[in-house]
Amino acid sequence: MAFNVDQIRDQFPSLKSGVAHFDGPGGTQTPESVGTAIYQAITGPLANRGTTTEAERAAESTVIEARSAMADLLNVDARGIVFGRSMTQLTFDFARTLAQDWKPGDEVVVSKLDHDANVRPWVRYAEKTGATLRWIEFDPATGHLDVSDVEAVVNERTKVVAVTAAGNILGTKPDIPAIAKVVHAVGALLYVDGVHNTAHSVVDVAAMGADFYGCSPYKFFGPHIGVMSAKPELLESLHPDKLLPSTEVVPERFELGTLPYELLAGITAAVDFIAGMDPSASGSRRERIVASMEEAEVHEHSLSHRLRSGLDAMPNVTVYSNARSKTPTELFSLAGIDSQRIYQELASKKVNAPAGNFYAIECSRHLGLGDGGAVRAGLAPYNTTEEIDRLLNALSEIKA
Ligand SMILES: Cc1ncc(COP(=O)(O)O)c(C=O)c1O
Repeated sequence: MAFNVDQIRDQFPSLKSGVAHFDGPGGTQTPESVGTAIYQAITGPLANRGTTTEAERAAESTVIEARSAMADLLNVDARGIVFGRSMTQLTFDFARTLAQDWKPGDEVVVSKLDHDANVRPWVRYAEKTGATLRWIEFDPATGHLDVSDVEAVVNERTKVVAVTAAGNILGTKPDIPAIAKVVHAVGALLYVDGVHNTAHSVVDVAAMGADFYGCSPYKFFGPHIGVMSAKPELLESLHPDKLLPSTEVVPERFELGTLPYELLAGITAAVDFIAGMDPSASGSRRERIVASMEEAEVHEHSLSHRLRSGLDAMPNVTVYSNARSKTPTELFSLAGIDSQRIYQELASKKVNAPAGNFYAIECSRHLGLGDGGAVRAGLAPYNTTEEIDRLLNALSEIKA
């Protein structure tokens, strides 16, 4: 049998509460298999990585397996997978490392579409080094970020361009392969935030042309940890601050302190869960991931169509997510009603769709929503048509 939403839902203990979760862009619910993998890793024999004892070998294999799982998910070399506390922390770390040779006259480019995790680290290190900061604008009317918006701000002085593969409040998916060509033509590096994108797309970092691609497994059924991927050769050329006795080997050079082995076991389980979302898929794990994510995308997009038609039919609703290419994430407000109140009224009906700027603060401001943002409803593979109807009905009952 192919993708079956009931079978998917059965694997999520938290969904039994009856709450309709449209808060996936903030972090999805977690399947039982991921919790079990974390529990087994942390309660089994476990020591620091090594080859002598069973406990050391357990730690070693959780690391190797998690790198391999992420490599399959992103279609990259496992030797280029770096784990860290969060995508935010990894981006601050990489910004600090890349900024070692920045100087006045160099340029750094960030976008107004992005979550602040892919903005502020670059802003801060541009300030510290005297490099010039440039902003990629997007069209607030459509939420579309065009390749020409990137072309307008890069030149031979550009060191890094930081841009998202999918905006976390508008869902906008910029054309990253085309942007990569523009960025590489001027000799700069492309740092892509894949946190929101990875939950909704078949990711092929090699085909995208990103030099760095970051994501966060808690956005795709896994534990709260961050992942950054880059070509091993690129990582070899970079020298982060590190402890004297810690290894120079890549990718470990970038992983400060002891890795959270139990969370790494959870990552592997999350990737295996994704690969199994379409039980009829066969072949390598990568092939099963591609087949499953394609099925999940079809499911999410059909729900998204229903949600969008429902929102568009409500005269008092403004929807801000209008890009041609986007994830099934909608940002909207109701005329004359505070978005926080909408969030609370929905929550009282067991419909979770929070409101705010979701740390995409520049994006919220650029849309004219200030720092307050709006309501976000994001879909995940476990959502159903019945839940969409509950959301729409609950919205229609909220009075100004
Ligand atoms: C698009 C996007 N980028 C970055 C982040 C930050 O990720 P992390 O919590 O792993 O630092 C988030 C979190 O919401 C996000 O949605």
